Amino acid sequence: MNKITITINNKKIVTESGKSVLEIAKENGIFIPTLCNYEGIAPQSSCRVCTCVIDGRKMTACTTLAKDKMNIETNTEELEEIRSVIVELLFAEGNHFCPSCEKSGNCELQALAYRFKMMVPQFPYDFPARDVDAVNPKIMIDHNRCILCKRCIRRKKEPENPTWFVFENRGNKLKINLDHELTADMDDELAQKAMDTCPVGAIIRKEKGFDVPIGSRKYDSKPIGSDIEDQGGAV
Ligand code: SF4
Ligand code: FES
Repeated sequence: MNKITITINNKKIVTESGKSVLEIAKENGIFIPTLCNYEGIAPQSSCRVCTCVIDGRKMTACTTLAKDKMNIETNTEELEEIRSVIVELLFAEGNHFCPSCEKSGNCELQALAYRFKMMVPQFPYDFPARDVDAVNPKIMIDHNRCILCKRCIRRKKEPENPTWFVFENRGNKLKINLDHELTADMDDELAQKAMDTCPVGAIIRKEKGFDVPIGSRKYDSKPIGSDIEDQGGAV
């Protein structure tokens, strides 16, 4: 790996080649919001929430590898507006019912909405008719809350895990389904892993819930991104 120097938000950073802009920002205490990105899974750039201005162009930080002399802006007013609109659209096009969701307080979408101070989306709600697949004894998938980030599908790339989820349909009818055959004998540990992979409350473990009361969960006490910003000081 070669040493490179990049600039993020006017701060010079010496780092190594081969890392994404998102990784380097995180290492330096700069929070870039994400939804479809998940540690250990190859990035795919589907949610666009991590969009930054990189050498004058809007690009996703999770899939852009840093290069020497790159100039990156992560927090302009325009970028914050773009991210906020993406989050609002996700709320408007699904049925999220946060107060009754087991993921409330641990949900990345909800936490970003708080970060962007979203009260009510500026877009009309779609209220789509979507179902819940609760056939599996260990987990259920609630299509009302799925934001199609595909983290669950991409997790198959980990060799020790089978493909638990499959695509159904295409375009705006695209849906994530459980592979009922493969998940028939899913144990508790895998069920928890599947639930943890999902940024929202679309994959929920059965027979276990509300162990940690709402109000004491991950993002209830510390806003999303504050763990990163606390480490390096927000820029
Ligand atoms: S089920 Fe969860 S992880 Fe899978 S695509 Fe939907 S939101 Fe993403
Ligand atoms: S986190 Fe980069 S596009 Fe979703």
